[in-house]
Formats: sequence, structure tokens, C-alpha cells
Amino acid sequence: MWEALESWSGETLHARHDHATGTLMLVAIHRARRGRAGGGTRMKCYGSREAAVADALALAEAMTYKWALADIPIGGAKAVLAVRPDLDPAARLDLLRRYGSFVASLRGAFGTGPDVGTTPEDMDVIAETAGEQVSSRASQGIEGGSTAPTAVGVLAGIRAAIVHVFGEAPLAERTFAIQGLGGVGSRVAAALVAEGARVVVCDVDGEAVRRTCEGSAIEEVAPDTIYDVPCDLFAPCALGGVLNADTIPRLRCRIVAGAANNQLGADDGARRLDDRGILYAPDFAVNAGGVIGVVGVESYGWSEERARAEVEARITRNLAEIFALAESESIDTESAARRLALERLGDGE
Ligand code: NAI
Repeated sequence: MWEALESWSGETLHARHDHATGTLMLVAIHRARRGRAGGGTRMKCYGSREAAVADALALAEAMTYKWALADIPIGGAKAVLAVRPDLDPAARLDLLRRYGSFVASLRGAFGTGPDVGTTPEDMDVIAETAGEQVSSRASQGIEGGSTAPTAVGVLAGIRAAIVHVFGEAPLAERTFAIQGLGGVGSRVAAALVAEGARVVVCDVDGEAVRRTCEGSAIEEVAPDTIYDVPCDLFAPCALGGVLNADTIPRLRCRIVAGAANNQLGADDGARRLDDRGILYAPDFAVNAGGVIGVVGVESYGWSEERARAEVEARITRNLAEIFALAESESIDTESAARRLALERLGDGE
């Protein structure tokens, strides 16, 4: 655990043990900007405390790049609530309130919103004790929270990658494989099929598959076979770490572009994809629509229409710059995206 902290480029890891539920509460602040850092609150059962710490550190770092590329002056951070599997609903609510006090104790240094395992409703509970540091439903001007603008951004990222690889080809001629049909994946699948694309999907939740595929031309495959689907673009929209030494050799696509955070399961993942001639659209560039949209509406007073236009424009522009830098410098796209983000922060590499 300490080794992970030693090799981390971030600033501070705050930790608190919740005795009542046995939860490890972590707030990792990778980089504060103007005294502020922000990122979602993830609630999950981890195999070990080390795995929870590693996740918090990596996710906080990715948030720094995401905010920087999005041109929003907030530093990267992330919270992880590493819970036990037997957490009951009443205890969960009390835990969220105590977590809110933990956030309040950081005195404005950390702001948060929903992430894997937490909902906009949970943010309302956390806000009872954390106050304004939380993007609660009351403060969010966007219908459906960050999910809808995230999906808009993922679609913009998909389009930018398709244009880069195939030219101005319409999506209708393309085949897409989507892993995960939650709020983001289901919206992306519906939008692509509406444009006439062939869409193949999977989810471990049969009900999510049914909701997405019923009455539409979307095709279903078993979750463990999605990597083998011949397609133009694979969109990971479920979990992190899915691009690794086992899965990358199986991919039969030209592009990877999706919503999931920290898709690269190993440091050399981007290079491996590059070696296979697969264009990787870095996750923190593609999935920034939620933060751009929500912060724009909450803090800058944008209309939803303006938010949508900003999400599309910023993500399209960022990906074009990332792909161009990767080509001109002969580096992989992940390295190019990080370099671009650091340049925008003003400290290069
Ligand atoms: P979600 O939690 O609503 O949906 C995830 C879906 O993936 C669920 O339907 C789940 O059953 C499925 N899934 C889990 N394991 C799977 C597996 N092994 N194979 C296939 N399907 C599996 O999440 P949401 O909001 O749709 O987000 C998707 C991803 O994008 C998540 O990784 C999230 O962290 C990330 N993301 C989401 C943002 C948002 O605003 N919603 C913003 C930035 C990133």
C-alpha cells in the first residue's frame, strides 16, 4: 500500500475507518487547483485494502487529466468507500452521512458527485452532512445528472475516432461492440442504432440487455465473447482494467473508444493496442462529458443546449489534438493525452 503511495504522482491521501460498517473511506487528492479538487465517490467491495487504495490513487490521477483536458480549473481527486458485502440499506444510509462529515472535514478541498456504486439520491444524503461540496440533485441543473452528457461526449469521441481512421464515413456503414448497458452504454447503443449502425452489445445483467435490445435491431452476445466480435469500434462502458494482456490480442476492431474509467489494465496497454494497429481514444478524454456538462450548468450557468454543444466541441477537439500529437511524436495516444493535459496545466512533462 505504501509503495503505491510512494510511486503516485499525487498530493494527499485522506483515510478514515468507519467502525460501524467496517468501511475504509478514502479521499485521494491528486492535484488541487486554486485549492479545489473534485471527483466521484465510488462504493465497491474490493478484494483487499491495497486494491481499494490503488483504485483511489489511479482514479484521482485520471481526474486531473480529465479536468485539465476539459479546460475546467479543478484538480483531480476521487473518493472510494470500500464496503463489506453484507452492508444493509439502513447501515448504508448512516455510512453515507458519516462519509459526508468526512468530506466536510476537508474544508472545501474536495468536491464530489456520483460514481460506480453511488447514485444522485446518495449525493442528497451525503450533502446533509457535507453541504455544498456535493453535487446533489438539488444543485444539478441537468436532467439525469452526469450520465446524459457523458453519453453525448462518448458519441462525440466515437465520431472523432471514426473520422480519424476512416475519413468522413457515416456511422451507418460501421459495426460497434458495446460492453455494458448502464446509463451510458444503453444511450450510446440506442443513438448508434438510430443512425443505422450495426450494434452488438453485452451486459452481465440480463435485464439491462432486455431493456436495450427489446424492439430494436441491437444484437446481444455473451459478456465473455464481446472482445472477439469483429467490429470497427469496441466501446468499453462497464468496468476499468478491461484492456489487458488477455483481452488485447483477442480484439478484432480498429478503434477502442468508450466510457469506462481506467480501461487500460496495464501500463503498456496503450502501446499494445498501438502495436496491433488499434486506435485507442483515451478514456479520460472520451468520458469527460459528464464533468463538462454538470460543472458548466452548475457553476457557469450554461443551458442544457449550451452544455451539449460544449461537450461535443471540447471532446471532438481534444481527440483530434491527441491523435495528431501521437502521430507527429510517434507516441501512443495515452501518452499524448497525458502530455496535452499536463501542458494545459502549465507544467509540461
Ligand atoms: P452503470 O453502472 O450504470 O452501468 C454499468 C453496466 O455495466 C451495468 O449495466 C453492469 O451490469 C454492466 N457490467 C458490469 N460488469 C460487466 C461485465 N463484466 N461485462 C458486461 N457488462 C458489465 O454505469 P454508467 O453510468 O453507464 O457508466 C459506464 C462506465 O462509464 C462506468 O465504468 C463509469 O465509471 C464510467 N463513467 C460514467 C460516467 C457517468 O457520468 N455515468 C462518467 C465517466 C465515466
